[in-house]
This record gives sequence, structure tokens and C-alpha cells, in this order.
Amino acid sequence: MTPAEQSRHALEICALAPVVPVLVIEDAGLADGLARALVAGGLPALEVTLRTPAALDAIRAMAEVPGGVVGAGTLLTPDDVKAAKAAGARFGVSPGATDRLLDACAEHDLPLLPGAATASEVMALLERGYTVQKFFPAEAIGGAKALGSLASPLPQVRFCPTGGIGLKTAPDYLRLPNVLCVGGSWVVPKDRVAAGDWPAIEALAREAAALPR
Ligand code: 3PG
Repeated sequence: MTPAEQSRHALEICALAPVVPVLVIEDAGLADGLARALVAGGLPALEVTLRTPAALDAIRAMAEVPGGVVGAGTLLTPDDVKAAKAAGARFGVSPGATDRLLDACAEHDLPLLPGAATASEVMALLERGYTVQKFFPAEAIGGAKALGSLASPLPQVRFCPTGGIGLKTAPDYLRLPNVLCVGGSWVVPKDRVAAGDWPAIEALAREAAALPR
């Protein structure tokens, strides 16, 4: 899948809701309930980070949830791409980008939202054909002000910023012309997930899904 095709898919996924929950799942047994709560609350696109041993099983479980579109985050290597795809991930997200990672996504037909933090990184990805990118780590590298500053020289690139964003700061990003949606973990507090408190998660999802953009 070419980078341009990948970006078309990424655009569709980013259009689903203003927020993509970033999930660090310790217990795959909770994945089904968690995904159902987030989808019911209006957040269908889900990013499961490959940071825990349970992540691939969680992706497998979430891929079965009606209405959900599950992707794999923290993709670092070609092996991550293969494993994510085999588990049923429909898109990938990476904190940065390397040639090996980008080649693997093309080879295995996994639409990637590749990470960039500077104008040069955005330009390098744009040269390869990626017009939809992740801006990471958003808050630490200047936040909405920095991202908005890229809109004038690079209007052809649109972003999903993630990293340190919360309910209060999300609107600052969502009102920018070059932002499609934001990513964040605030909708999935660890203690609520561990407790299987799906009504609380659904309420947080609903609040995030109602953010204007
Ligand atoms: C990440 O990859 O961890 C995302 O950027 C989510 O960041 P957050 O936990 O700060 O929302």
C-alpha cells in the first residue's frame, strides 16, 4: 500500500471522532469490555500501544467488537508491523518514523500514521507521500502553538497530535486548520479500566466525542 493510500485510510480513521483513545492494556481479558464502552461512548477508532505483553491479544479481542476500528500504536520495527497486522490491526501509529518501518507498512498493507516532531521530519514524510501524520510528543514540543505554526508553510499535511493532551487542552488543537483529531489516554484512567468500570469509561468517551472540531 503506497503512502498516499495509507494517508487516505488515515484520513478516514481520523474523521471518525475528535479523539483517538491511546490504550496501554495490561490485561487482555478487559479489552472487549473496554472497546465496547469506548465505541458506545462515540469513540470508534482505538489505538492499542504495543507496550505490554497483553497488547496483541487485546487487539485480537477488540478487532471483533462491532463498530470499532482497532489499530496498533508504538510500532517501532518491521516485526511489530507484521504482528499488528496478523492480530487484526487496521491501522498503525508510530512515535517517529524510520525507513525500515515505512517500508514494512507498505509491504504489509498497514495504513500508518507516522510520527513527526519538527518541520524537517514532517517534510521527510511528505516527500514519501504521507500527508496525514502524528505530531508527537505534542505538549512537550510546543503544543498547539507549535503545531499551528506548521499550517502556513505546510498546509498539505494534517495531523493527529498526541502526548500530554487532555480534555482541557484538546480544543486548542481541534480548532487548528491542520488538525484532524487528537490522541490521548485521558479517556481511559488506569484505575477505572482495572476496575472494569465501563459506565465511567463510556461517560469519559462521550465527553471526548462531543468536543467540537
Ligand atoms: C502515547 O503514545 O503515549 C500518546 O502520545 C499518549 O500520550 P498521553 O498518555 O500523554 O495522552
